[in-house]
Amino acid sequence: MSLQEQIGELWQRRAELGPADGDAREVVHEAITLLDRGEARVAEPRDGEWVVNEWLRQAINLLFPLSGMDTLEAGPFEYRDKIPLKRNYDALGVRVVPGASARWGSYLERGVILMPSYVNIGAWVGSGTMVDTWATVGSCAQIGSNVHLSGGVGIGGVLEPPGAVPVIVEDDCVIGSRCMVVDGARVGRGSFLGAGVVLSPSIPVIDAETGEEVGRGVVPPWSLVVQATRPRQYGGGTFGLACALIVRRLPEGERHDKAGLNAILREHGATA
Ligand SMILES: CC(C)(COP(=O)(O)OP(=O)(O)OC[C@H]1O[C@@H](n2cnc3c(N)ncnc32)[C@H](O)[C@@H]1OP(=O)(O)O)[C@@H](O)C(=O)NCCC(=O)NCCS
Repeated sequence: MSLQEQIGELWQRRAELGPADGDAREVVHEAITLLDRGEARVAEPRDGEWVVNEWLRQAINLLFPLSGMDTLEAGPFEYRDKIPLKRNYDALGVRVVPGASARWGSYLERGVILMPSYVNIGAWVGSGTMVDTWATVGSCAQIGSNVHLSGGVGIGGVLEPPGAVPVIVEDDCVIGSRCMVVDGARVGRGSFLGAGVVLSPSIPVIDAETGEEVGRGVVPPWSLVVQATRPRQYGGGTFGLACALIVRRLPEGERHDKAGLNAILREHGATA
């Protein structure tokens, strides 16, 4: 039976599994090791589409009931959890500033910089990406190469429902401070979200030039987007509900000048 089939079989009888099931845990660990090494991904681009490998997400969901609690220690700090942290950053070529944590089963490509931030299991972070201070990359989120997740950004995790697409931020994006990108929202290549944008499948993305809603929770490639409001009529009056507003289309392949500045600062190690 292939690893995928074995995970499928365990998934069918997940209700009866527990930390005493060593054989089942071994199978699940094999799948999580693939994720940890970047040899498999929960979602991957295929012919321009993002395809979800549901069995790998099932493996993550199986890991919790199959794992017992452990005490982890780092100097005076003590933690108690079911999942270990990632290790061997020197060999991975990843810079990890004290205060940053990435869980085993997340993948960080060479050249990633983690400021004090958090990367959850199943997440994939591409080369040269900076995860800035207090940014969080939720479970299974897929972050491209040369992305800047600015301070305090919240990239949501998507562990269920089955088939749900994780949050995806494609290559060369800048996600401004304190943005929230959640529930399978997707940011197309080269886009720049200004500080404080909230993006979820409930939030309309509106093109300021045409006034048209281009979608919900999905930002097209090479767009400059800011947080805005749209008028919405209710029985009690007209209220301003959140929308994400595309104020400018960037020429394809050309990053916003403020993204360029960030890249220069990073190369010289000058970012906070
Ligand atoms: C969006 C941003 C990149 C500005 O881009 P820009 O091309 O220079 O665009 P402008 O400043 O001309 O802004 C366009 C319009 O959007 C508005 N706007 C800009 N940023 C905004 C934001 N974050 N939220 C809401 N509106 C915003 C501006 O007021 C402006 O309106 P105006 O035309 O009436 O003056 C910048 O404001 C921003 O948010 N940068 C991210 C900062 C950050 O998070 N840094 C990371 C630190 S770790």
